[in-house]
Formats: sequence, C-alpha cells, structure tokens
Amino acid sequence: MQTRHFLSLLDLTGEELRSLLEHAIDVKLKLQQGIAHTPLAGKVLAMIFEKSSTRTRVSFEAGMSQLGGHAMFLSPRDIQLGRGEPVEDSARVISSMVDAVMIRTFGHDRLETFASASSKPVINALTDKLHPCQLLADMQTWFECRGDIKGATVAWIGDGNNMCQSYINAARQFDFQLNIACPAGYEPNADMLDAAGDRVRIMHDPAAAAEDANLLVTDVWASMGQEQEQQERMQVFESFQVNAQLMQLADKDALFMHCLPAHRGEEVTAAVIDGAQSVVWQEAENRLHAQKALLEFLIVGAN
Ligand code: CP
Ligand code: NVA
Repeated sequence: MQTRHFLSLLDLTGEELRSLLEHAIDVKLKLQQGIAHTPLAGKVLAMIFEKSSTRTRVSFEAGMSQLGGHAMFLSPRDIQLGRGEPVEDSARVISSMVDAVMIRTFGHDRLETFASASSKPVINALTDKLHPCQLLADMQTWFECRGDIKGATVAWIGDGNNMCQSYINAARQFDFQLNIACPAGYEPNADMLDAAGDRVRIMHDPAAAAEDANLLVTDVWASMGQEQEQQERMQVFESFQVNAQLMQLADKDALFMHCLPAHRGEEVTAAVIDGAQSVVWQEAENRLHAQKALLEFLIVGAN
C-alpha cells in the first residue's frame, strides 16, 4: 500500500475528509464518556518542531497517548537535522523507527522533501504555506455548531498567509464560498487562487467580504518568522480588524474563529474573541479530536 501523507487538505478526497470529521466527533464523544479507544497501541509518532507551538504539540502528544500510542518531541536544537544532516537522510532514518512523523517547519518544500524520503505517513503541522490540521479542527467546529458547511459563505479578514491559503483549499474540498479581504500586496498564492476558481473571491474591503457571511475568520498580522515586519504590518493591516462593527455586517448567526494565538486589540477586539459568536475555545479543543481521527486514518487505515 502506498504511504498516504497529509501535507495539504488536497491529499484526502472531500469524502475522506467528511468521514474523518464524523469519526473525530465520535472519538470526542468516546473521550467525554470515558470510553477507552486505543487503536494505536504500540505505535509511535515523531514530532519535529522547527517553530514554536502550544496547541499543536499538546494536541498531538495527548492524542497519541489517548489512542494508546506514544509521541516523541524532537527539537532541531537536539537532533542532527538542526546541525545540517540532510532532510532526506533524517526522513529515511526516523521513518524506519516510528509509525508517523509530524513536522512544523518554515519552507513547505522542506516538508515535501521529508515526505518524499519517508516510508511512513508525514503530517504537516504548519509550514509558511499551509496549516491543514487547523482546518480539520475549524471544519469539525462548524459541523458541530451548524451542520454541513457546503454553500455557506466564509469571510477571511487579514493576511493571505498559511491559514488563509488553507481556507482556499477547504473551500474547494468542502464546497463553500470564501471572500478574502486582505491589503493590496498581501494576497494569497495566485496559483492556489486560480485552482479554486470562482469559489474564492479576493476583496480589499473587509466590509464587503463580511457582508452576510456565515463565518468570519482571522489570524495574526505577522506570522512566525515575520517578527521583523511586525511594526510595518500593524500599520498596513490597521483597517482589517475584526470588531463589533464588522460582525454586525455578517449574518446574525455568524460565528467567529481564530486559530490562536491571538493578539487582542490588533487583528480582533476582545469583545469579539471573548464574545457570544466566538467559538475559538471549541475550535482549539477540536485540534485534539480531529488529529486523533487523522492519526488513525493515516496509521491504521480508513476509520
Ligand atoms: N493554532 C496553532 O497551530 O497553535 P500553536 O502554534 O500553539 O500550535
Ligand atoms: N499564521 C500563523 C498561524 C499560527 C498558528 C503563523 O504561521 O504564525
């Protein structure tokens, strides 16, 4: 059987993604009811983090334990990959000893190179280009709160970054309309936009993007690795804040999501992120459940 990787939402079919989310909801219920579910007994996940993380690390590590397996945290400070051992050599060796590898890194090409030399499934835990695991949690949260997202309108407000680009892939796979409001010069990848066709529209006006939307989503203005651009970005993105006025333009039942960590007073006001329409805590918790379903899917096969 060919090794399946999860580098992008496009690595699974729409049908596989939907059934994975159904399983995630089931796995969540089992955990809440105290029913043991340990299909990964004896399995090991290697986790390589070349950038910081709270949610991703805790969710994968706790998830593997709950599934009966084990997760191993590998920092570039401690392993030879960080001292320049070729990515392919590291992939070949690490994958010969574990059952799956999770990587958070900078360039997406580095992840793809690792996957090409890995004999076991590789999971994208965030690159500069994509953050597909977060989208599993976001979609699970929407399904739990509102049912199917097919045909809904999602407004992305802010940077055309890894999260925005993951929403573009989600619009294709889950068949929703995506309005992206970003400053000129901060648009997402043009090829990804072309591939999504008219499901995705670029706007430079947050109000136009938010009008009648069912879900508003934003993210930090400066991502990891862009710290030196923080001051400049604060000015460029000033009018791209998700605040009460913007939420008012959306559908009255609209939800608010943010992958976290958030900067209150910058990309979102405290009133919105801590308000009644925000589902960010459920969204964060669902990282655990959605990734447990993903680990099962990749390591032991379809759920
Ligand atoms: N949303 C997310 O990936 O958070 P962490 O950076 O804390 O893992
Ligand atoms: N766009 C953010 C997401 C963090 C989870 C970053 O890459 O830093």
